[in-house]
Amino acid sequence: MTVGEMSKRTGVAVSALHYYERMGLITSFRTAGNQRRFPRHMLRRVALVSVAKRLGIPLSDLQEAFADVPLTGTPSHEDWQKASRRWKRVLEQRRQGIERLEKELTGCIGCGCLSMKACTLLNPDDELGDTGAGARRVPLE
Ligand code: FES
Repeated sequence: MTVGEMSKRTGVAVSALHYYERMGLITSFRTAGNQRRFPRHMLRRVALVSVAKRLGIPLSDLQEAFADVPLTGTPSHEDWQKASRRWKRVLEQRRQGIERLEKELTGCIGCGCLSMKACTLLNPDDELGDTGAGARRVPLE
């Protein structure tokens, strides 16, 4: 498929398809006339990228989820099953992160101190304390 056909079939802009290709999420090959072509099995990858974007999943996480799916050659059912299991793990980690954030946010809304030492939202595990004393979030001139 040409990049235009791919764009039309997936509803994804040509520039986005090129971006996905640069990120290694999809791949194309060159014809004898040096024209770019996408294998048909890239349609599924682009569809999954679109779903991930809608869910707010970073494309870097998607790279991890696609790690077991070969870019060249048509992926097998088992390849997609592995990707599915990996994706579920990624989603579970995100869900746990959101739950943690929700708990911390609930506490902070009732508190409002924004303490650099105590606030787990502003300075989790006092990360800034490891980099030295004094304010570092405010850019110095
Ligand atoms: S605002 Fe007080 S702990 Fe976060």
